[in-house]
Amino acid sequence: MRAVTLAHETDWQGWRRATRALVLAEVAADQIIWSVGGENDLLAESAAFADAAGTFNVPRAVVELSETAIQAREPERFAWLYRLVLRAHRGERHLLDDAADPEVQRVQRLAQAVRRDTHKMRAFLRFRTVQEDGAQRYVAWFEPSHFIVEANAPFFVRRFATMTWSILTPYRSAHWNGTELSFGPGAQPADVPDDDALEAYWRAYFSSIFNPARLKVGAMQSEMPKKYWRNLPEAVAIPDLIRSASGRTEQMLEQDMRPPKAMPLAPLRARAAQAGTEAKGSPLAELAERAAECRNCPLWEPATQVVFGEGPGGARLMLIGEQPGDQEDLVGRPFVGPAGQLLDRALEEAEIDRQTVYVTNAVKHFKFVPRGKRRIHAKPDTVEIVACSPWLNAERETVKPGLLVLLGATAARAVLGRAVTISRERGERITMPGGQAAFVTVHPSFLLRLPDEESKSREYRAFVADLRRAASIIAEIDAAA
Ligand code: URA
Repeated sequence: MRAVTLAHETDWQGWRRATRALVLAEVAADQIIWSVGGENDLLAESAAFADAAGTFNVPRAVVELSETAIQAREPERFAWLYRLVLRAHRGERHLLDDAADPEVQRVQRLAQAVRRDTHKMRAFLRFRTVQEDGAQRYVAWFEPSHFIVEANAPFFVRRFATMTWSILTPYRSAHWNGTELSFGPGAQPADVPDDDALEAYWRAYFSSIFNPARLKVGAMQSEMPKKYWRNLPEAVAIPDLIRSASGRTEQMLEQDMRPPKAMPLAPLRARAAQAGTEAKGSPLAELAERAAECRNCPLWEPATQVVFGEGPGGARLMLIGEQPGDQEDLVGRPFVGPAGQLLDRALEEAEIDRQTVYVTNAVKHFKFVPRGKRRIHAKPDTVEIVACSPWLNAERETVKPGLLVLLGATAARAVLGRAVTISRERGERITMPGGQAAFVTVHPSFLLRLPDEESKSREYRAFVADLRRAASIIAEIDAAA
């Protein structure tokens, strides 16, 4: 029997070194007892496994899967991972391709749980401000389900490089002093101060984006489990918002009952009913889940999360923007920031109900350049647009909209595969190979950037007219079908 004592729960280097030595010595998995000691445990045997000589031949995918799954809160994980590595080393190079293999399955399940927890940490962790020696410091309390702090700390370093912060969790803490990342023991919720100006900001922001007509308490709780609510300042607002939701919906409906205007889009409503991204298990929801793991280009790394498209699976109109902005990146939904609000207003004026439209972007991660505490939008380049195109293509394949409305040059390039001068091609019905129709117009953020009120209002009216024209194109298409 061999006993291996790792320095801590995610002692990846220690596990790797021991595994390499034991695999090269052909030690069977059931001959090893794995345990976790203290960081100061001088007898920890992992340290004794100096880099072993020999050819250690394990596919990269197995190593990457192990690096993720080792973060799972599963006592048997060291042994389970060892079994896979030993099998791969003995010649089963494609063992991960066998999805029915129970040893592969259980490790994949661990990795999946870690990825889900990682997503929650990136989405729901909130810093509070603390004054320390006259300087501002940020502290966050988070309760991960797995041992994910060490692997995720570099993400928060990149994201909040200019701040001095600590992330405290029950099993480990991470500290960034602006130049160096360090780890310490776990902490208590009471170690985090509870008053903060940032809280008011988060609460107000959350209330402003909360749409009562879309309230699905079950879905909301599964996406943002109650366990996280107590650490989210904005969650204070949730019970009240839920209580007032039906009243607010009625108010919205009443507003909708104003004297009816011409309704060119009745067919859109009828067809939009198919399950969209909100419906768990729908093809679109599954695509969105897979996109969350996308590593096709480096934009995923500094971004908070993927921002997938949203809307009904049977939408006749698909609006395609460039990429999520700062607020979309934080909230995880497309077009919710300033450009989104302008788009909403223009859609309403064009008598297009956003709920009937599928809204997405050519690129699904926010590309930005950090400047001080701000994140400045950076235009995605062709490589990034192409790297992201499988997701947009999959959305188009799944939704099969009658018309693609391309908002600005990036969307036009992504869909038409060439550089497009908006002013030259705007407002024309373009027939794509395969027969789908497309239509180019400006991006709403172009309107936000215009310098004077006169051009703003002129261009806004032209944008609304384009959206109306898009609605009539789809009506023509549907009438001819
Ligand atoms: N701009 C975009 O192109 N997409 C968004 O989702 C937000 C702003």
